[in-house]
Amino acid sequence: MYVHLNGGEFYNLDAVEGCRRYLPDQSVDLIITDPPYGIEGDTLDKHYNRDEGWVLEGYVEVPAAEYGVFTKEWIEQAERILRPGGQMYVVSGYTNLYHILSALRESSLIEINHIIWKYNFGVYTTRKFVSSHYHILYYAKPGGDRTFNVEARYGLTEKDVRGRSLNYQDREDVWVINREYQPGKRKNKNALPSTLLMKIMQYSSREGDRVADLFMGGFSTAKVAIELNRTFVGFEISSSLFSHGVELVKTLAPGSSLSERRRPRGKRPVNQGKRWSEAERRCLQKQYRQLVAAGWLKKDIVATLSASFGRGRFGIERMLRQRND
Ligand SMILES: C[S@@+](CC[C@H](N)C(=O)[O-])C[C@H]1O[C@@H](n2cnc3c(N)ncnc32)[C@H](O)[C@@H]1O
Repeated sequence: MYVHLNGGEFYNLDAVEGCRRYLPDQSVDLIITDPPYGIEGDTLDKHYNRDEGWVLEGYVEVPAAEYGVFTKEWIEQAERILRPGGQMYVVSGYTNLYHILSALRESSLIEINHIIWKYNFGVYTTRKFVSSHYHILYYAKPGGDRTFNVEARYGLTEKDVRGRSLNYQDREDVWVINREYQPGKRKNKNALPSTLLMKIMQYSSREGDRVADLFMGGFSTAKVAIELNRTFVGFEISSSLFSHGVELVKTLAPGSSLSERRRPRGKRPVNQGKRWSEAERRCLQKQYRQLVAAGWLKKDIVATLSASFGRGRFGIERMLRQRND
């Protein structure tokens, strides 16, 4: 079954078959996907303190013995449909992580980051440590421009109350993001939080880009993509999850969360990232010596030089260190 709605194309189909039949080579900018975990007799739910009555039926699991072949096949399709410079984020638990890593390493895709997503309400245990993280494997297809909006959410000069860079903290590779529990609302088992999906899309895509999810589950990726004005294509093999997802998409308004997203504040220094000329270098050193001689504190010197040279604090400090080397 196929539904075209709100800038999205939705297929009730096996992902590999669907990609082969409907998605041309290099037709997708960004893939965000959370494949089935291949954990037979998934016991996660009994550890979570939640009412299973609200969990949607129909999740299709992949037998553990087939997980390696299954993973290799869908990653081959992902590699084919991504445009050069296109990117993929794969969410995985640790049980079958090695299959995913091995298929990614056999592909031409290159590793950008291995992100750890730490969530609340880990699987409760008493005889070992509590497991409360997933892996997010961030890869890209070589050969084209990779979209990475470094100031997608925080300006490079934005600081928290303790003076630490908000941009740096937001771009560290351990993400602490809570799962969303909305009591009384029907949802897919293991639905990804929209905050996490929004963060990925803000950094790695632009309005109008084509985002894909090969395993849609509760259509969380589709929802966030449509609400951020991206186009979308996705697959879900379960007909009950698919029907529920289509009902959800009918309620969405394209672009509706653009105004809610976190935007950078503060201006990026005008010369940040530009090469230093010899004259500029000499001038910096001269001004630095004068301010030191005038008894200024180091932090005030750096702030002043940063403003007068249109450079970030780190750039100024690096140049001053070079002078001393
Ligand atoms: C971990 S869930 C995805 C959850 C989703 N990210 C969300 O936020 O709701 C994996 C989904 O893949 C579906 N699935 C399993 N095998 C599939 C296949 N071969 N093709 C497409 N979907 C499949 C399952 O039914 C399940 O809904």
